[in-house]
Amino acid sequence: MINVVAFDIYGTLIDTQAVLGKLTGVMGEQAPSVARTWRQKQLEYSFRRGLMRDYCDFSVCTRDALLFSCRENGVAISPADVEQLMQAYAELEAFPDVHAGLQALAESGLRLNAFSNGSHEAVERLLQRAGIRDAFADVVSVEAVRSFKPAPEVYAHLVAVCGVPAERICLVSGNPFDVLGAAHAGLRTAWLRRDPGTQFDPWGVEPDITLESLDGLASRLRETRL
Ligand code: 2OP
Repeated sequence: MINVVAFDIYGTLIDTQAVLGKLTGVMGEQAPSVARTWRQKQLEYSFRRGLMRDYCDFSVCTRDALLFSCRENGVAISPADVEQLMQAYAELEAFPDVHAGLQALAESGLRLNAFSNGSHEAVERLLQRAGIRDAFADVVSVEAVRSFKPAPEVYAHLVAVCGVPAERICLVSGNPFDVLGAAHAGLRTAWLRRDPGTQFDPWGVEPDITLESLDGLASRLRETRL
């Protein structure tokens, strides 16, 4: 039985592609390509730093990835525009289904935690601004163990904070690498497939639940008797 539901933040509850509007204002038609490379490189930098044991605040990965993406796309960007885009990233909105979805889970008696690569301070601020901070008992950041998803130690830290066995925790993430990392650490998993075009990795490990929005998660957790 699941006692705690832990949520990935960027790309799961918070829409990272919402920064596209600001990017378009800064660089016009190259914005979609820059946005894609920005997100891919942000995650790649976190993977590299985890393997290198060279931890830094996730916002450094975000900033370095933005600079790389502009360079890769031949876009000149001013320091002022970098700061404006980083500020926009710190103020992203929640997906439309999040408020009601979290409410339904809380009403079913489940404890909810936020779980992110973002620093504790950055995630607290992001959730407050998105109006969803009160849904969570704890904000769990990887910075406490100075590594990044999907390193086993970050899930071990989440389990320690949750205070229940790993199999009583369901990790909800839009990121297949995070779902696989959590499954490897013994947690139950729900893949929130925000983009229907995204394929799951053919590793022979499947999420316990796959869904397209948060709307049905409360009932799916009851039905599947995880
Ligand atoms: C997270 O929020 C990066 O989506 C990932 O931890």
